[in-house]
Amino acid sequence: MTDPGFFEIVGSTRAIKRLTSAPVPLELIRKVLDAGTKAPSGVNTQPWEFLVVRDVDTKKWVQERYLSFAKERFGHVTKSLDTPHARVLRAVMHLAEHLHEAPVLVFVCGHRDWPAVVPIEQRVGKAPPPYGSIYPCVQNILLACRAVGLGASLTTIHHMFEEELAMHLGTPDDISLVALLPIGFPQGRFGPVTRKPARDLTHFDRWGRRGRAGERSACSARPTLSGVCIDPVTENTEKAQ
Ligand SMILES: Cc1cc2nc3c(=O)[nH]c(=O)nc-3n(C[C@H](O)[C@H](O)[C@H](O)COP(=O)(O)O)c2cc1C
Repeated sequence: MTDPGFFEIVGSTRAIKRLTSAPVPLELIRKVLDAGTKAPSGVNTQPWEFLVVRDVDTKKWVQERYLSFAKERFGHVTKSLDTPHARVLRAVMHLAEHLHEAPVLVFVCGHRDWPAVVPIEQRVGKAPPPYGSIYPCVQNILLACRAVGLGASLTTIHHMFEEELAMHLGTPDDISLVALLPIGFPQGRFGPVTRKPARDLTHFDRWGRRGRAGERSACSARPTLSGVCIDPVTENTEKAQ
């Protein structure tokens, strides 16, 4: 089997929320975390660290709290509702119910630090984690998981009990548990992902200039605020539907 190329990986890296319990070799986890560390970060500070949880009791402790907050937030979605949004939320709940069965839970952690835009006198309490630097690392890990055949998804529900979690895991005050990635071999297939095409989201030179005639499927789907699409070549305008 040939390795999938970059664009196939990007186009098929879905959030895999149904995992088998087959053990994941530690070398594979090291490999995907190494890919995470290749990400860019502000001034190359590399403000990430990883907490890899494989202990059964710790996973169960996390899962019980994760599930109770997930139920509070998303538990109202009925089983019979068949919309894309309801399907996503059912997958969220499935993961919450089975989180402890994932062979590995990886917390991608960030060193808290005040962004330069926050004036010194306003720096009160805990500094936020450097999200802008941590998420590229997270995305590299997700792509690397896909490349080696592992399923993973980005989750954040643990933020609803982060203080208790930090105490349980022994993380110091200057560390934030930014993302929780349950990782294992997928039950189903990878991708393709369902996303709006860039063509429908792209403006040229000035907001509202969508592109050449024939490339303007966005006009009816996503009209500009003024409800007008402008062809940058002919300067013709077209009233959006
Ligand atoms: C910032 C962020 C937070 C997310 N938090 C959660 C979460 O707490 N629980 C969860 O199951 N999925 C979470 N997701 C995953 C999304 O549900 C998933 O990326 C989205 O539905 C697209 O899924 P797909 O790639 O399978 O199409 C999160 C994704 C992002 C980008």
